[in-house]
Amino acid sequence: MTLTKKISTARLSFEGHDYDLPVLEGDMGERGLDVRNLLKDSGLVTFDPGMVNTAVCESNITYVDGKNGILRYRGYDIEDLAEHCSFLEVAYLLVHGFLPTPSEYSAFSKLMNLHSMLHENMRNFFSLYPDHAHPMAILSAMVVSLSTFYPELESDPMEAIDITVSRLLSKLRTIAAFSYKKYMGHPIVYPRSDLRYCENFLNMMFYTPVNNYEPDPVITRALNQLLILHADHEQNCSTSVVRAVGSSHANLYASISAGVCALWGPLHGGANQRVLEVLEDALRNNISPKALVEKAKDRHSNYRLYGFGHRVYKTYDPRAKVAKKVCTQVIKHMSQSDPLLDYAQELEQVALADNYFQERSLYPNVDFFTGLAYRAMGIPVNMFTVMFAIGRLPGWIAQWLEQRDGEGQRIVRPRQLYVGPGMRTVEETLATDLYAKKKTK
Ligand code: SDX
Repeated sequence: MTLTKKISTARLSFEGHDYDLPVLEGDMGERGLDVRNLLKDSGLVTFDPGMVNTAVCESNITYVDGKNGILRYRGYDIEDLAEHCSFLEVAYLLVHGFLPTPSEYSAFSKLMNLHSMLHENMRNFFSLYPDHAHPMAILSAMVVSLSTFYPELESDPMEAIDITVSRLLSKLRTIAAFSYKKYMGHPIVYPRSDLRYCENFLNMMFYTPVNNYEPDPVITRALNQLLILHADHEQNCSTSVVRAVGSSHANLYASISAGVCALWGPLHGGANQRVLEVLEDALRNNISPKALVEKAKDRHSNYRLYGFGHRVYKTYDPRAKVAKKVCTQVIKHMSQSDPLLDYAQELEQVALADNYFQERSLYPNVDFFTGLAYRAMGIPVNMFTVMFAIGRLPGWIAQWLEQRDGEGQRIVRPRQLYVGPGMRTVEETLATDLYAKKKTK
C-alpha cells in the first residue's frame, strides 16, 4: 500500500507494446515513476548507477529540498531544532515522530543513564586493538558485538524499542569515548548519572585523574547542535545500507554496524576528517586556496575538494550554515584564533566564485566546518567521523524501524545488466595452449 498518491500516468512504448506507468506524488510535490511492475509486465529493468534517479522507499522521517536548501526532521526545520532542542529531544523526535513531553523526556533520560555502561568484558576488547586502530573500525566492531551481550534484542526489539534506542544511543557514546581514551593511552572514564548526554560524553572524553574536567556549557550546547545537524538525512549512503541490512531481518546492531562502515568512506561521513587533513596539509605546505581549487578541477586526478558538493543539495547545505556559526562561536569561546578557519573561509570564497564549482552547483556541505569545531573542542581528527556516527545514530534507528514496520517491505535486492563472458567450460579452457603449456612444466 503506497502512501503517495497517483497523480498521472506515463506511457512507455517499447517493441510495439505500450506500458502505462503510474506517476506518484509525495507530500512535498516530489514526483516518481512507479516501476514496481515494469519487469513483470515488460521484461525491462531500470538502469540507474548510484541510484541517482531512484526513490527506494516512501518515508515520513526527513525531508530534504536540495534546490532551496531545506532540511526538516518530522516537519521541523533543522535551524529551528538546532536553536531550541537538545540532541536527545531530536533523537526522540526522529524515532517516535513527535517531540517528547517533559515526562517522556525524563523517562528517556533515565533509560539513557541506565544503559550507559558497557559490559565489563567489552572493556577488554579495547586493550586488544593496536594503538593506531581507527576508532571507526572499533566502533563498528563494538556495535555488532553488543548483540552478543544483549541477545534479547537479537530477536525482535520492537516491543522494547525505547530500551533498544536508549541502549544503542547511550552505549555508542560510551564506546566512542572509550576508543578515544585508548587512542590517548588514558585510563577510561565511566559515564556518570548526574550528567546529561553531551556533558557525559565530554566528561568521559576529557576527564583524567589530573584534569578534573568541568563540562563547559558553551561547548556542551555546541556539541548538541552539531549532533542535531547530523541526526538524519533521508536516504544517504549509510542510511540506505542500514535499511538494506535491516530488510534481510538482520538485527538492529548488525544493521547499525554496517551503517558505521558505510559512513567511514571519505566521499560520505569520512569527508570531515579529510577536510581537516587537507587544510592542515595546505597550511603546512603553503598551498593556496586557489591551487587547491584548481587541483580539485583537474579531471585527470580523482582529487575532490572534501566538504564540497552534494548529491541532493545544489545550493548551500543548510547544516553547513549552522555548522559555520557554531564553529566560529566555539573557536571564539576558546579564545583561539584558528588559522585553519581563516584558510577554510578563504577556500570557501574562492570555490564559490569559481565557474567550475558554480556550473556544478558545488557548495560547502555538512562536513566542511564541523571538523574545525570538533578540533576547537579538543577532539582529534580521527574521531570526527565517530562524532558523525553518534549524531546519525537516531536517524539510522528511525529509518531501520520504518523499513521493518513498513507494510509490504521486501528484502532489498537490486538487478543488474550483465556484461561479462558468455558460457564457457573448464575443459575448453584447460585445453588451450596457455593451460596446456602450464600442465607440462
Ligand atoms: C555527506 O547523501 C547525503 O545526504 C550525505 C550526507 C549525509 O548527511 O548523510 O549529506 C553527508 O556525505 C556529505 C558529502 C561529503 N563528501 C564530500 O565532501 C566529498 C567531496 N564531494 C564529492 O565527492 C561529491 O560531491 C559527492 C560524493 C558528495 C556527491 O557525488 P555525486 O552526487 O555522485 O556527484 P558527482 O561525483 O557526479 O559530481 C558531479 C560533478 C563531477 O564533475 P563532471 O563529471 O560533471 O565534470 O561535480 C564534480 C564531479 O567531478 N564534483 C566535484 C566535487 N564534487 C563533485 N569536483 C571537485 N570537488 C568536489 N568536492
